[in-house]
Amino acid sequence: MPEANRQWKLTARPKGLVTPDVLQLSASPLPLLEDGQALARVKYLSIDPTMRIWMADIPQYMPPVQLGEVMRCFGLAEVAESRSPNFKKGDKLIGLTGLQEFVLVTGRESFPFQKAPSIPFLSDSNFLGTFGLNGLTAYFGLLEVGKPQSGETLVVSAAAGATGSIVGQIGKIKGCRVVGIAGSDEKCKWIKDDLGFDAAINYKHPDWKAQLVAATPAGVDINFENVGGEVMQAVLDRMNLNGRVVLCGLISGYTREDPSLSSFAQILMKRLRVQGFIVIDFASKFMEAGQQLGMWKMMGKLKDKQTILQGIEKAPEAINMLFQGSNIGKLLVQL
Ligand SMILES: NC(=O)c1ccc[n+]([C@@H]2O[C@H](COP(=O)([O-])OP(=O)(O)OC[C@H]3O[C@@H](n4cnc5c(N)ncnc54)[C@H](OP(=O)(O)O)[C@@H]3O)[C@@H](O)[C@H]2O)c1
Repeated sequence: MPEANRQWKLTARPKGLVTPDVLQLSASPLPLLEDGQALARVKYLSIDPTMRIWMADIPQYMPPVQLGEVMRCFGLAEVAESRSPNFKKGDKLIGLTGLQEFVLVTGRESFPFQKAPSIPFLSDSNFLGTFGLNGLTAYFGLLEVGKPQSGETLVVSAAAGATGSIVGQIGKIKGCRVVGIAGSDEKCKWIKDDLGFDAAINYKHPDWKAQLVAATPAGVDINFENVGGEVMQAVLDRMNLNGRVVLCGLISGYTREDPSLSSFAQILMKRLRVQGFIVIDFASKFMEAGQQLGMWKMMGKLKDKQTILQGIEKAPEAINMLFQGSNIGKLLVQL
């Protein structure tokens, strides 16, 4: 066992992307275990857009990370030592590990650690993407909030990302016409050719709004919104009467000082049902969703990709990659 635990601490509130002053890597001694506690070595860090929200001192669904604290993040960790009756050496745990090499598991976490089951066709890292919060977000956001009906048109933004790529595939399973919006031709090719989306639009092409109109001849019934801003505006303009807007994320605003949308007029005109949600709202049903996602994966109906960086040093660079569109599928740092 090493004697020190390297940790990224939040040292300044970011303006825009994560600059070198925002996170600092330092080493702390490994904690001594008390009864009921376990020490787990972090194997994967889940890099999520919400980390940028947690860095900001703004109203949000969890308290912002305080300056000087270890940066919050989800991860997968393997128990290295245990004085807990609940965890034994070798158990793999999923939870809020923080951006660090080791995490002390006290058993009193507000978001308790869950054991990752051992399933032959799933790798450890799957439990942070398709079978972690992204898959659950896609599942509950689309099925419980979007309520898709066969034959409806679903548009999903950030469609080649960890969440959007699963949303589109569940939409296809439910019989929707699925149109994805993503930021490169490579991403569009992947979601259309490999994942089976009906159409894919690169929002960086000059005529992408005309392509969106052509790809949604019957209008849009469900907008699974991950991006906000101009992308959301263009989709709202295509909404049908009584459409549903599943407000999952607004990533285009996370690095801006003023993330507000320019106009919500279409919501009024089209009597849209807009519902925000946070995946933890559905925590009591995670098991059910995991089983269904696993079944779809086994049947070959769900595919995924991962972008994996190596080494804890890469964490700040990885966070910025989300806002530069440099990931396809789930973004992880492997330690
Ligand atoms: N409500 C919840 O409980 C919940 C849970 C998880 C995630 N989310 C939200 O879901 C969204 C996707 O998260 P994720 O973890 O799956 O990340 P992701 O989609 O894997 O990665 C983020 C992607 O967003 C796109 N993007 C970044 N900046 C953009 C901009 N200015 N305009 C358009 N697209 C931009 C990039 O792809 P392109 O190349 O396509 O631009 C990037 O790859 C985020 O808004 C996140 O906050 C919500």
